[in-house]
Amino acid sequence: MRKIILLGYMGCGKSTIANRLSKTTTIPFLDLDKVIEEKTNLSINQIFEQHGEIHFRKLEHEIFVELLNSPENLIIGLGGGTPCYANNHELLKGENIRSIYLKASIDTLFERLVVNKDKRPLIANKSEEEMKEFIAKHLFDRSFYYNHAQHKVVVDGKSIDETVNDILEILA
Ligand code: S3P
Repeated sequence: MRKIILLGYMGCGKSTIANRLSKTTTIPFLDLDKVIEEKTNLSINQIFEQHGEIHFRKLEHEIFVELLNSPENLIIGLGGGTPCYANNHELLKGENIRSIYLKASIDTLFERLVVNKDKRPLIANKSEEEMKEFIAKHLFDRSFYYNHAQHKVVVDGKSIDETVNDILEILA
């Protein structure tokens, strides 16, 4: 069955865009982080604190594969790091998969993340100055993996509807 995968850095709008895309297409949306939280009964922060990032990455890979193999059509919103671990980037090009990288600039990401960092263990304890530098470097490192997506949509300066329309054109 068909899977539409949305990926991109923390704060690029994956969940918001996926929710709207789901309403428009009536294809159900699952957010990988939320599925992990439901399955473990722990928040992402708690998983990082209690079990460490390596454990989180293992869970993330296993549950991503499970979702890909599920028998329904699905929109899957990945975590910002998902494509960058466990060869998950190679799973972005399989049969019946459409993967879309939501590409945002450092400035867009910084503006969105600075007001919304508490639930994100990788940046929760960083000052504003540290965050900007971290995002710039991290995004550079991760772009290699994000660029394995089949399609790319730039989100800077666009409304949710505009981005969803760009995605619908790609999927048409
Ligand atoms: C992470 C991004 C988060 C979450 C975890 C790690 C990352 O997801 O999976 O905190 O490595 O970039 P969002 O991109 O939905 O914030």
